[in-house]
Amino acid sequence: MAIWQDFKDKLGLGEKPALFLRPLKERDLQHVLRIEREMYDYPWSEDIFRDCLRVAYSNWALIKDEQFIGYAILSIAVGEAHILNICLDKQYTGQGLGRHFLAELLDMAKGKEAARIFLEVRQSNTVAINLYQTMGFKKIGQRKKYYQAADGREDAMVLSLEIADAER
Ligand SMILES: CC(C)(COP(=O)(O)OP(=O)(O)OC[C@H]1O[C@@H](n2cnc3c(N)ncnc32)[C@H](O)[C@@H]1OP(=O)(O)O)[C@@H](O)C(=O)NCCC(=O)NCCS
Repeated sequence: MAIWQDFKDKLGLGEKPALFLRPLKERDLQHVLRIEREMYDYPWSEDIFRDCLRVAYSNWALIKDEQFIGYAILSIAVGEAHILNICLDKQYTGQGLGRHFLAELLDMAKGKEAARIFLEVRQSNTVAINLYQTMGFKKIGQRKKYYQAADGREDAMVLSLEIADAER
């Protein structure tokens, strides 16, 4: 059984749609920008999010008890998926919801015939790295000075996960 399926089962999610993903819409941008600016030192601009919606990336909202609590942006093409952004509202972090969100995204990417999923993460982002590694992601590279940082530039770790053979 896939690692992420284990975590979904442990969370006991399933029957009620109190927590679900739906496609991200332009009308969500106010929530996206508020969360993005709170959670990142170097947030994406509104124009970047508008471009993501325009080019029809795989854009998702996470809804809990009818509240918008997070979003994710993926590109999926020719059997590969790339997580470009995944972010939760601060007040909902640390409760297993990021793990659930990621698990759903992996299922969705697999459903769209992605065999492998990639992402970049700041090497100082311990929370995200812990999450990815415990979901089975492996480090496959390092991009030098990839991100802006207060004291110059910061490296990105490139992680990937094979999803083709995992059960959904
Ligand atoms: C990264 C993020 C999506 C994780 O979501 P989350 O809901 O906070 O994470 P979860 O509660 O599901 O925890 C998942 C795992 O992350 C790690 N983690 C969570 N909080 C942590 C903390 N304070 N310190 C260290 N590791 C932590 C743990 O490995 C945890 O698993 P465990 O609870 O089984 O130990 C969320 O924190 C976030 O939106 N951060 C800001 C945006 C960001 O950095 N996105 C990633 C860009 S690559």
